[in-house]
Amino acid sequence: MEEAVINTSTPAVELEGITKRFPGVVANRDISLAVNQGHVHAIVGENGAGKSTLMKILYGMQRPDEGEIRVNGKAATFRSPGDAIAASIGMVHQHFMLADNLTVLENVVLGSEPRKGGIALDFGAARKKIIQISDSYGLGIDPDATVEDLGVGARQRVEILKVLYRGARILILDEPTAVLVPHEVEELFANLRVLVREGLTIIFISHKLDEVLSVADAITVIRRGTTVASVVPKDVTARQLAELMVGSELPSPETRESTVTDVVALSVRGLTVHSPEGRRIVDAVDFDIRKGEVLGIAGVEGNGQAELVEAIMGMRAADGEIRLGEHDISAWPTLRRREAGIGYIPEDRHRQGLLLEAPLWENRILGHQTRRPNVRGFWINRSGARKDTQRIVEEYDVRTPGIDVDASSLSGGNQQKLIIGREMSGNPVFLIASHPTRGVDVGAQAAIWDHLRAARAAGLAVLLISADLDELIGLSDTLKVILRGRIVADVNPLNVTPEQLGSAMTGAGEAA
Ligand SMILES: Nc1ncnc2c1ncn2[C@@H]1O[C@H](COP(=O)(O)OP(=O)(O)O)[C@@H](O)[C@H]1O
Ligand SMILES: [Mg+2]
Repeated sequence: MEEAVINTSTPAVELEGITKRFPGVVANRDISLAVNQGHVHAIVGENGAGKSTLMKILYGMQRPDEGEIRVNGKAATFRSPGDAIAASIGMVHQHFMLADNLTVLENVVLGSEPRKGGIALDFGAARKKIIQISDSYGLGIDPDATVEDLGVGARQRVEILKVLYRGARILILDEPTAVLVPHEVEELFANLRVLVREGLTIIFISHKLDEVLSVADAITVIRRGTTVASVVPKDVTARQLAELMVGSELPSPETRESTVTDVVALSVRGLTVHSPEGRRIVDAVDFDIRKGEVLGIAGVEGNGQAELVEAIMGMRAADGEIRLGEHDISAWPTLRRREAGIGYIPEDRHRQGLLLEAPLWENRILGHQTRRPNVRGFWINRSGARKDTQRIVEEYDVRTPGIDVDASSLSGGNQQKLIIGREMSGNPVFLIASHPTRGVDVGAQAAIWDHLRAARAAGLAVLLISADLDELIGLSDTLKVILRGRIVADVNPLNVTPEQLGSAMTGAGEAA
């Protein structure tokens, strides 16, 4: 096979003025960027920024509405991935596309069969070529392994090999680290370094800034569909990159002025939850949360936090007393507790917070099915619920093409904003926020913190459970540590460090 002579000063890929519209969304707007030969070029942006769309355009899976693509200096029009492959571009998708029950060899050969005499597949030649590619790039792949026996990191290397096998010199990797554990990320980065050393060009998509800073030679930031900056890693910090991604100065979770009043909104006394075996999972917990106060609970996961929350919500049998304002609600069912003004951001938004297969406006009704604007008399008020969903989408900046799409089509951060908007409606007096920003990107995290702070300033009492110690320390007015179901320490969020809090959570210094 002959290789075209490529002038290394010409960018491998240039995109200019790329625009792509979908019904109701402009996914890419006037995007321009240049990727140098032999670089790892990172493209970063929040969920929904338009990264995958841009890459699908470069890989011929989608046609741009406007703009130009140049590969090695030559204008290119791709009608299909086949055209992109012919131009030496290959893509590894976010979700692997391998057939589990076939071998590596069969997977690699599928769709690009080496023909002998135009008929039989020449597996012998294919096997040789796979071994040669695997060896020269240090991929460590056995062509005869069955894909289902491979771990995630190895499958990913098979995908990369498959693309190299087809002759790619420009590799697109769409969020390749999303599925990897840390040591696999290191291995992947080592592979990428070998690939660029051998002259390949890599376009690496991510929203994890530390990774990008460690592996990339150049970085382009995309925000809301358009390119906002191209930088080199040595000139930026993770924080500056995050600010470019989000488009504003990054807020910190700090709350500064106290808004704590002396009116107790929720009071818990002797709250105890037993396991089926009779062990105390939550053990005689006492606390008060006042209006305008955030009470944070720090603890290693599995120390009773989830059960404490479920007991307060009435989802789990418990002994002891729970008072909401002047009412003893200990014996009330969950729905009545919600109606009395308890909002609930659950730990697992997929299992407890949303119906993924239902449209946003139906999700607005969940847990609020007895209250206005969702009902009129005995009937579900469809137009009331729809109108209020639209309000939440606007007020909480839920990025979605509309309220009729299924919740599953939103990114995690946007799903969470929808839940928070729903739980804040009807003016709750008390809110349980369980890991409110877990798994959401920095922009959504900042927005969620803003909403919590604003609600607290308006007099909401909040119980905050989080594994993010900066979030706990920053947002809490009062901070307690839970260990084996018991509150074992009160710490001052104004002067505790995450390290001190972490050691309190593991019981270090417990004897003191
Ligand atoms: N095939 C499609 N049809 C309609 N909207 C789409 C389609 N693909 C992507 N979008 C929308 O385009 C925007 C950008 O999505 P995407 O490129 O997947 O972002 P990213 O990869 O940065 O998370 C989102 O609002 C998404 O909902
Ligand atoms: Mg994507």
